[in-house]
Amino acid sequence: MDEILYEGKSKVLLRGPSDDVLLVRYKDTATAFDGKKKEELAGKGRLNAAISNLIYDYLAQHDVQTHLVEVLDETSALVKQAEIVMVEVIVRNVAAGSFSRKYGVEEGSALQHPTIEFSVKSDELGDPMINGSQITAIGLATQDELTDMIAQAKRINELLCVLFARAEIRLVDFKLEFGRFDGHIILCDEISPDSCRLWDMQTGEKLDKDRFRRDLGNVLDGYEEVLRRLSDVA
Ligand code: TMP
Repeated sequence: MDEILYEGKSKVLLRGPSDDVLLVRYKDTATAFDGKKKEELAGKGRLNAAISNLIYDYLAQHDVQTHLVEVLDETSALVKQAEIVMVEVIVRNVAAGSFSRKYGVEEGSALQHPTIEFSVKSDELGDPMINGSQITAIGLATQDELTDMIAQAKRINELLCVLFARAEIRLVDFKLEFGRFDGHIILCDEISPDSCRLWDMQTGEKLDKDRFRRDLGNVLDGYEEVLRRLSDVA
């Protein structure tokens, strides 16, 4: 019996083959609004695993250090056991979601340059937005770590914009998580339609979890389309 170390909303972490390697298994559960909305979507785990693994391979080819060690099967992979920085790093190229609501900028407006913002990784607190000075003041990360995460997030955004553009997809925004491993800050967690806004470049059709959050229907058709297009260009 596999030993569960931690069960999150969309993934389970199990003991891996060694002390510094974990097994991550993607679940079919979809959640939104800090878990208040929840549904099982058969096949979501397989799709997110495939998309995230493909993106992590692409980033690794471009010298981004990630936690991915080895893909095991359709829903499982081995990852480095990093100490997760409890800060979510959100990069935006286009106004949408909470940014549009908060600042009154119409959804779909291109931003003059990418923005980076942070929130505390805590469902209990409702993932509140936090700034760099607050992050270092309460010890969520050091200044060096923060500087490193910002630089990596910008580079990852540039790389992902190129990849998604090849797939005729507009990378509107996305959320990253980082971890400490072997004295470095490495990219952790997943990059998938659960954690990105992805719009068809021609039609503007949403291909991401907003289909679930906003009850737009056919959630996994969007994810399938993202995987199909990325597989063609990666
Ligand atoms: P937001 O516009 O709701 O702040 O979301 C920004 C991006 O972050 C969007 O691509 C979805 C992603 N995201 C997560 O991955 N997890 C979350 O808990 C939230 C709120 C957003």
